[in-house]
Amino acid sequence: MLSLRILLGLLLFAAFSVQLIVLSASPNGKARVYSGCTEPNKVALTFDDGPYIYENVISDYLDSKGVKATFFVNGYNYECIYGTKVAARLQKTYRSGHQICSHTWDHADLTGLSEAQIVDELNKIDVALFKILGINTTFVRPPYGSYDDLVRQVAYKLGKILITWDFDSGDSVGATVQQSEDDYDENIGEHVNNLLALNHETKKNTAEQLVPYVVEKFQAAGYELVTVAECLGLEPYTYVGPLGVRDKTWFCEEERSGN
Ligand SMILES: *[C@@H]1O[C@H](CO)[C@@H](O)[C@H](O)[C@H]1NC(C)=O
Ligand SMILES: [Zn+2]
Repeated sequence: MLSLRILLGLLLFAAFSVQLIVLSASPNGKARVYSGCTEPNKVALTFDDGPYIYENVISDYLDSKGVKATFFVNGYNYECIYGTKVAARLQKTYRSGHQICSHTWDHADLTGLSEAQIVDELNKIDVALFKILGINTTFVRPPYGSYDDLVRQVAYKLGKILITWDFDSGDSVGATVQQSEDDYDENIGEHVNNLLALNHETKKNTAEQLVPYVVEKFQAAGYELVTVAECLGLEPYTYVGPLGVRDKTWFCEEERSGN
């Protein structure tokens, strides 16, 4: 008869082997990362860090010019996404045809987080966008454009595609409107086929001055101003249903706990 010790050893070995097999068989893919557009002659203006008070200044202006853009929003950054005015702002932007994508729950640098924390950052904003807009989104812009293999692996399991940029207006790092305009000007012309441009909807100057300047310049130069999905030839959403209706689950835990 086998001694208990040997039996335990065998059991442990069996369990370990099974785990190895599961690990090697489990999909270990990494989310794709796009840092530029793929479609020719297209410019995707993107706006991060909202939904904030200037969002509809931007979306209303874009609407008046027949332009659609992409907003990478947080759940709890400047404001709680479930706030009455905040959610209404976001619904207005979405309803007028702009693309809404994930910028994570609270704008943490994902590379500093555990797998469970990354899942949380991605899931919580997804739940909010599903509740408020009735959509499930594919694109994630990692805060600070920061990601590593673990971030890509977790994002892959959640069906995400990471989107960074190939042009930064500099509006979140102290560029003046004039500097941002000059930088954009250098990226307009025959040497530039397409552009995936980073801006922030939280900046008053961006909303009121930079956006009108840039839209008119690109349109005059013959570019088509489109959403990220259009400039990549991809689908932005895996599910599109009716707009959400407020219920008692529309709140940010951070606010209830007084953070
Ligand atoms: C959409 O997202 C919500 C919230 O994350 C999830 O509960 C739901 O199962 C998703 N639906 C589809 C069709 O993927
Ligand atoms: Zn950001």
